[in-house]
Amino acid sequence: MDEYAEIAELYDHVSVYRTRPDVGFFVEEARAAGSPVLEIGSGTGRVLIPTARAGVEITGLDASSSMLATCRRELEKEPVEVRARVTLVEGDMRHFELDRRFTLATLPFRPFQHLITVADQLACLATIRRHLVPGGQVILDLFNPSLEALTRPIGVESSPDAEFTMPDGRAVVRRFRRVGQDRATQVNQEELIYDITHPDGRTERLIHAFLMRWFYRFEVEHLLARAGFEVEQIYSDYDRSPFGAKYPGEILAVARVNA
Ligand SMILES: C[S@@+](CC[C@H](N)C(=O)[O-])C[C@H]1O[C@@H](n2cnc3c(N)ncnc32)[C@H](O)[C@@H]1O
Repeated sequence: MDEYAEIAELYDHVSVYRTRPDVGFFVEEARAAGSPVLEIGSGTGRVLIPTARAGVEITGLDASSSMLATCRRELEKEPVEVRARVTLVEGDMRHFELDRRFTLATLPFRPFQHLITVADQLACLATIRRHLVPGGQVILDLFNPSLEALTRPIGVESSPDAEFTMPDGRAVVRRFRRVGQDRATQVNQEELIYDITHPDGRTERLIHAFLMRWFYRFEVEHLLARAGFEVEQIYSDYDRSPFGAKYPGEILAVARVNA
């Protein structure tokens, strides 16, 4: 099931996604690693397209055909030399075979948190490892769970984000609601709720429902070590502040394939 199907066309217009301060970090890491780079869960190309613009050859892998379709439409607006640097593949990050090796694999903006079980997380890391050159790197981008965020009330809609308008005139307001939480398996059952007002006044509500696994810093280190990676950095932010410098910040883990 493509859980992003209904919201793929909205994604690039959501203000909190448009203004995420992560793009510069991922472009710099990709340039430093050099071509070819693999982005896993590349979505609409929010990070992938600026990376290709920066001169890096990049393959984007995503399980959602609708997110990939949005990415293809965005790529059509790019010059031919940028498009030529991009390959898009529909696939599952746990099991894919690209017949190619990469200098760096990135998972910007939480794709890894869609993997609920340890077996799935290890399958994904093993698949990534097989696709890296000797000494290649992986970057996981996870939120650092704050106690406040974990104890948000269940079933309560948040106040809305800033309204945005689609090119066809639809006005969209987005809210968040947690509908369940399993504290034993570290899984939140989340909803992003999009209230849409069409230019003719008609209204509709789209609900993007998904599960999000939360991780802790030392768990991430152990998981990467178990999967055959050496952890090089754990940052708390895209400005490369070390983990702990900001709270809650991110768990931005940079690791290298063990020799
Ligand atoms: C929050 S979006 C992030 C998109 C993009 N990286 C960005 O920074 O805007 C998460 C993406 O992960 C993809 N995804 C989720 N589960 C996946 C899986 N098992 N294999 C591949 N992609 C997956 C979704 O389709 C979605 O495009």
